[in-house]
Amino acid sequence: MKPVHRKPCVIANWKMHGSRQMLEIWLKQYVSGLPEENPVEVVLCPPAVYLSEARLYLNQLAKKGRIQLGAQNSYAEMTGAFTGEISPSMIREMGCHYVLAGHSERRQIFSEDDTLIARKVWAAYHADLTPIICVGETTEERNQGKTLEVICRQLAAVLPEEQLRLDPRVMVAYEPVWAIGTGLTATPLQAEEVHVAIREWLAARNRKVANEARLLYGGSVKPGNVKALLMQPNIDGVLVGSASLNAQEFLSICMACRQ
Ligand code: 13P
Repeated sequence: MKPVHRKPCVIANWKMHGSRQMLEIWLKQYVSGLPEENPVEVVLCPPAVYLSEARLYLNQLAKKGRIQLGAQNSYAEMTGAFTGEISPSMIREMGCHYVLAGHSERRQIFSEDDTLIARKVWAAYHADLTPIICVGETTEERNQGKTLEVICRQLAAVLPEEQLRLDPRVMVAYEPVWAIGTGLTATPLQAEEVHVAIREWLAARNRKVANEARLLYGGSVKPGNVKALLMQPNIDGVLVGSASLNAQEFLSICMACRQ
């Protein structure tokens, strides 16, 4: 049995998909399909340009508490001459409570390194957002038996020790790079092994934080594999990419996460 304070969490990461029309239809389908009692925390991370519209729709649908908003990215400063960037305080102002940080697509396609990710994480905490810190190994690293070493190195590089002393809002998503968008999923035991290592890494720094932190799995999560993942003692939720684009499929994932 998992501690009750680790409420299951399902996050939809739309990446660079969607449209205004899709947003409206998706939210209507999602809200109408959800039962009154929802013991799962659900977060939608659409492209940033749709955040304020999503907020307006959710206000109109008057059931806004059933889904929170998050951003897929934010910069490391609150304001300044950073053309094209969006600050964590702006994202907070849009009503978001979460932001992804260190996603492997940001690392690989946009060359974000640990130093920048660490600054983004720190700025997100300062703007009263919870960063969802993404970590994960490549196929080569797994084949070389370096998975846990890589995960702990990524955590140490971006999660400030000071933060771990001060603030229990820690959320980490384990997303093996080889499982993202490939249809390959880590087996529940492979994922649990890494989640245990993440919790032990946190516990070595702050036992309370480790106990309260929600650890998510991401990488080809579908309605058919989510239940077995969530049954693992250290998997508290999922970060969903392609399957989150279809409201019905995403709802099925949310329903499967009810304990
Ligand atoms: P997929 O679910 O499409 O594999 O994407 C996972 C992901 O990157 C979520 O952040």
